[in-house]
Amino acid sequence: MEYTTLGNTGTKVSRLCYGTWRFAKESGGTVETDREEAHELLDACHEHGINFIDTANAYGDPDGTAEEYIGEWLENHDREDFVIASKVYFPFDGWGEAGPNDSGLGRKHIRAQIEGTLERLGTDYIDLYYIHRWDDETPIRETMQVLTELVREGKVHYLGASSMAAWKLTKALWTSDVEGLERFDVTQPMVNAAHYDEVGDYLDVCADQDLAVCPYSPLAGGFLTGKYERTDDGGVEAPDGSRGSLQETFGDRYATDRAWDVLETIEAVGEEVDASPAQVSLRWLMDQGRFSCIPIVGARSPDQLEENVGAVDVELSDEQFERIDAARNGS
Ligand SMILES: NC(=O)c1ccc[n+]([C@@H]2O[C@H](COP(=O)([O-])OP(=O)(O)OC[C@H]3O[C@@H](n4cnc5c(N)ncnc54)[C@H](OP(=O)(O)O)[C@@H]3O)[C@@H](O)[C@H]2O)c1
Repeated sequence: MEYTTLGNTGTKVSRLCYGTWRFAKESGGTVETDREEAHELLDACHEHGINFIDTANAYGDPDGTAEEYIGEWLENHDREDFVIASKVYFPFDGWGEAGPNDSGLGRKHIRAQIEGTLERLGTDYIDLYYIHRWDDETPIRETMQVLTELVREGKVHYLGASSMAAWKLTKALWTSDVEGLERFDVTQPMVNAAHYDEVGDYLDVCADQDLAVCPYSPLAGGFLTGKYERTDDGGVEAPDGSRGSLQETFGDRYATDRAWDVLETIEAVGEEVDASPAQVSLRWLMDQGRFSCIPIVGARSPDQLEENVGAVDVELSDEQFERIDAARNGS
């Protein structure tokens, strides 16, 4: 495994981060990744040298179960070997009903959630704490103030921001700067070669402000592995048990006309460099020169993970990189 600096911070992370969104997630009546599978996947990450793990308070059914699985696994490992990221924003209700202050980015919710996250992960601090979404009902000044307190108390090392409009990210950075508060160092938008334009302005802010970008869904939920077929009526034929077969919105979300075109280019490049479409897609992200880019892979089996880790050894020429770039912007 190769390691890189997490953007403008002093922390070194593996070139790929591992995402735990599917841990304990119930889809269509089945748990996608149960406790045993989760622990096998974390073992595989460790064996491959992945030291960067992404989770969120709300991952798993019930909420918090993904963090619990990671905490149990960490009991038998040295927590200091890992860079752990979690998030706050979405309603956190366990199996109960979320109350008026059980979501969002207000002081009360963030204060309660960080304690739960630390307890479930079995750690005194997390390395990176993201706001999962923007909260229109809480002034960003209050959010940045409470996040700054968490950093100064040593409960959180760095702050991150996930999906939001570019102007909101800019407003948060501006608020931190004028108020003397901690600012975001890391971002987590959905970015992959087939879905890039939607976050073009956001990525311009990241490049300008020297923010590390950790793309989520870097393989478009598995679409860019090439395992889906296009049906004659323009739909998606999904292998049994795949995300496309479990998630009704998969086709609309990931299998756009542009995505099929991008996949074709990625497959052609893959044949030239003897790499799978998944590996080429991840390498293309890692090769973004404008900002430090660390994709968050969501492999569901050790075999998928091994294939994805192979991206670290793939080399794309400038011409191959640009050909994928041209496909992604439709030129
Ligand atoms: N901030 C946010 O709002 C947000 C949103 C989404 C995700 N995330 C984070 O990003 C992480 C990754 O997201 P993602 O799971 O959508 O990423 P992804 O890497 O685009 O998709 C992962 C899925 O692709 C399939 N896959 C992966 N590698 C494969 C391979 N080599 N061969 C065949 N299939 C393969 C697997 O699906 P199947 O085997 O099930 O088909 C796997 O579950 C999440 O775990 C989470 O940590 C954050």
